Amino acid sequence: MNIVRQKGTKDIFGDDILVWQFAEDKIRRVTKKFNVKEIRTPVFEATELYSRSVGDETDIVNKEMYTFEDRGGRSITLRPELTAGVVRAYIENGFSSLTQPVKLWYQANMYRYEKMQKGRYREFNQFGTEIFGSNSYLADIESIQISYNFLKEIGINEMISLSINSIGCKSCRQNYLKVLKDYLAPHIASMCDTCKARYNKNIMRIIDCKEDSCKKIVEEAPMITDYLCDECREDFENLKNGLDSIKIPYEIDKKIVRGLDYYNKTVYEYTSKDLGLAIGGGGRYDLLVEELDGPSTPAVGFAFGMDRIVLLLKEYGANDKIVNNVDIYFVTMESGGYNAIHEIVSGVRDYGYVVETDISNRSMKAQMKYANNINSRYVCIIGENELSTNTCVIKNMESGNQVEVELSVNKILEIMN
Ligand code: HAM
Repeated sequence: MNIVRQKGTKDIFGDDILVWQFAEDKIRRVTKKFNVKEIRTPVFEATELYSRSVGDETDIVNKEMYTFEDRGGRSITLRPELTAGVVRAYIENGFSSLTQPVKLWYQANMYRYEKMQKGRYREFNQFGTEIFGSNSYLADIESIQISYNFLKEIGINEMISLSINSIGCKSCRQNYLKVLKDYLAPHIASMCDTCKARYNKNIMRIIDCKEDSCKKIVEEAPMITDYLCDECREDFENLKNGLDSIKIPYEIDKKIVRGLDYYNKTVYEYTSKDLGLAIGGGGRYDLLVEELDGPSTPAVGFAFGMDRIVLLLKEYGANDKIVNNVDIYFVTMESGGYNAIHEIVSGVRDYGYVVETDISNRSMKAQMKYANNINSRYVCIIGENELSTNTCVIKNMESGNQVEVELSVNKILEIMN
């Protein structure tokens, strides 16, 4: 077949699905613990939503969006992230009239036309949380606590580092940007082409440029943290003290500015040294709701890249622990066997065990082979002899031990339990 998967997309199946499901169960568990409610929004939105929120001059909007004109002549974009979509939903559905704070979570596919590498795809999945309606640093702490709790639940918190920074509010950033512009002006010629363009359009992004030439220039650059106004400095201090008191380890990285325009004050990123990539990021965006024509509403949130989380879980051996073995396979006669035993099979299945039986009219020998191939813990053999004496043979596939018992759901459960 010459129709193949599109670049940057993947099929997820087999053992990988078990790892995804393991992580997804933990998302539900953690968000429930913090009373965060799920929200599902459309895969596509008006392009303007992203140019006005993520920002016209960001890589995402400039180079990476899947944008097209639909048959009605509208400019449509497949969501490259979900904060903007959730803010749109918050405004459109009148969430500001609900009791605040409003805490929402999502897990969904995103689309960015990026250069592919391990952990970087064009269709990828994020789990994120957004908290609306609190301007307190306590909401920042809860946002970090939810994300950290998730890493803890999936057992990788010790392999991940959390870096935090404050990029100030509108007023302290204005002073800082002047100082930064003056510092960088004599170095423009030595910067990479992207940063040359950023100088006039998105100067803060120069701070986290990964090119050696720019990194060198930035080493001596003034940092926003040294230009925070009293309120922002106090909030950042409170945040650090709060994280210390709940024992969430972090480091301060003055170079984190984030790649989306809507952030202010607290920003944070989770990185994996083993993967060499950010696995999640977030921060405060107190002006975005208002900028998208909603009522003034402070907000804070984060999103994890779930594909990267799954890669890490696999790297750390989660596959071996997360196995979905069949508990019992019922071997039956080739013809008419199913009818004779289906009540027994259903009874054991209804109890909650993972149960399989023959649906291909195979020989008893072939059924045994299949049970072995799927690593069934037990096999229950009900042949002609057993049926006539109302018995069955239960074999423990690991030890090889087998017993003959009365053919009843209770007796079978007794052996399995
Ligand atoms: P972001 O940093 O652009 O933030 O993305 C969050 C995470 O998504 C990244 O840390 C990364 O793990 C994953 N990710 C991004 N691009 C890709 C890709 N091409 N392939 C695989 N994984 C990827 C946001 O999207 C913000 N909306 C987060 C947020 C929520 N801020 C406040 N609330």
